[in-house]
Amino acid sequence: MNQQPSQQVEKGSRYVVAVDGPAGAGKGAVCRAVAQRYGFSYLDTGSIYRAVALLSLNNPLSDQEALGCLAAQMPFEFRAVEGAGFRAFLGGEDVTVALREERVGLRASQVAAVPQVRQALLTFQRRYGGSQNIILDGRDTGSVVWPDADLKIFLTASLDERAKRRALELQQKGETVSFHKIRERIAQRDEQDSSRAHAPLAPAPDARRVDTTLLTLEQSIDRVADLVDEMVGNKPR
Ligand code: DC
Repeated sequence: MNQQPSQQVEKGSRYVVAVDGPAGAGKGAVCRAVAQRYGFSYLDTGSIYRAVALLSLNNPLSDQEALGCLAAQMPFEFRAVEGAGFRAFLGGEDVTVALREERVGLRASQVAAVPQVRQALLTFQRRYGGSQNIILDGRDTGSVVWPDADLKIFLTASLDERAKRRALELQQKGETVSFHKIRERIAQRDEQDSSRAHAPLAPAPDARRVDTTLLTLEQSIDRVADLVDEMVGNKPR
């Protein structure tokens, strides 16, 4: 997912920035903006888990091995579409919008607990972007996918704030879901993502923590950009 950079960054071997955190902390919006600012590739690793979830909702499999095979073989890719940026494709079908459905997010959190699925998706994540500088977001990108990333960030916000943002997002889409219900769903995902045995959501020991509870989106982007500037040597540490 490449954009026109406003700040060019060069390095012999590529920079990897890994951003992890709970659902609704703003990782996607922040990483997209930072990727655009520095001309990095961007990988939303959650969308890969969501693709497995979508497939498994349409074709329920209870067996973990079978789910792992489904993940390893799924024809998933991001493609640049004229005038529409990068879109997610499963087979020949554009699933960008379907992947964002609530039921898909909840199911993604379940399939993500299956070790065979996590293993199958590692290769995709590590190969993505080839030799380009990359920023990726998810739950274990700094702890498991890229343990030697140049910069690791744990981006978080309070549960109430994340629920408030999600409610606003749904409202803007014309969907009405009670705040209580949204908060409950996010708490459920936090619990599932943090308590699983394999690669649970947790900050890597060397991650820089950014709490966005009291920050606007612009301020959150600037905080992360400051850390990228430190990484590339634009600013002293
Ligand atoms: O970030 P998201 O809401 O799109 O992620 C959907 C689910 O996928 C999330 O609840 C947990 C899982 N996930 C994961 O386990 N590891 C990742 N690197 C990214 C997402």
